[in-house]
Amino acid sequence: MVEERVKVELPSRPENLALARVIVTAFATRLDFTVAEAEEISVAVSEAVSNCIIHGYGNGPGIIRLELAVVDGALEVVVIDHGQGIPDVDRAKQPSYTTCDGRMGLGFVFMESFMDELSVNSGPGQGTTVIMRKRPEQEGIDRAAAGQRISDQ
Ligand SMILES: Nc1ncnc2c1ncn2[C@@H]1O[C@H](COP(=O)(O)OP(=O)(O)OP(=O)(O)O)[C@@H](O)[C@H]1O
Ligand SMILES: [Mg+2]
Repeated sequence: MVEERVKVELPSRPENLALARVIVTAFATRLDFTVAEAEEISVAVSEAVSNCIIHGYGNGPGIIRLELAVVDGALEVVVIDHGQGIPDVDRAKQPSYTTCDGRMGLGFVFMESFMDELSVNSGPGQGTTVIMRKRPEQEGIDRAAAGQRISDQ
């Protein structure tokens, strides 16, 4: 069940990367994430949004859409650009694969390891949609043992 869906459109500019992180982290307080989990979400969002800016729009103008929802107790983050798209998604997800000199090719690796689910829909000229989901892992167990919660702050 989707309780509600928050939609935000950000101009594709490096200044808006921090804003995207703050928006998602603030939304994530609706769930019982630990501080460490919230940091992982923040990194994953950062990687997805920076890919839109750098690769999707080639550092030029464009709109990045964030859609946030709680779906069956999990955070869902959707990051959409209408940029150039990815010709081969499976290849793009491989560790160290990059089309940009000097980059590490680790963005999708971070998204995959820090979130529970990652799906990427893209094609040349079709833009890119990245859907990520994460559930608070220690939900329901001894809070003291699980570490500080973002909702405690
Ligand atoms: N939104 C996007 N639009 C177009 N191409 C993309 C997009 N996101 C990723 N890609 C393509 O997938 C490749 C791999 O992305 P990934 O984030 O894993 O590595 P990177 O961005 O190249 O390097 P890093 O994230 O480590 O700085 C990119 O080099 C790019 O070719
Ligand atoms: Mg990247």
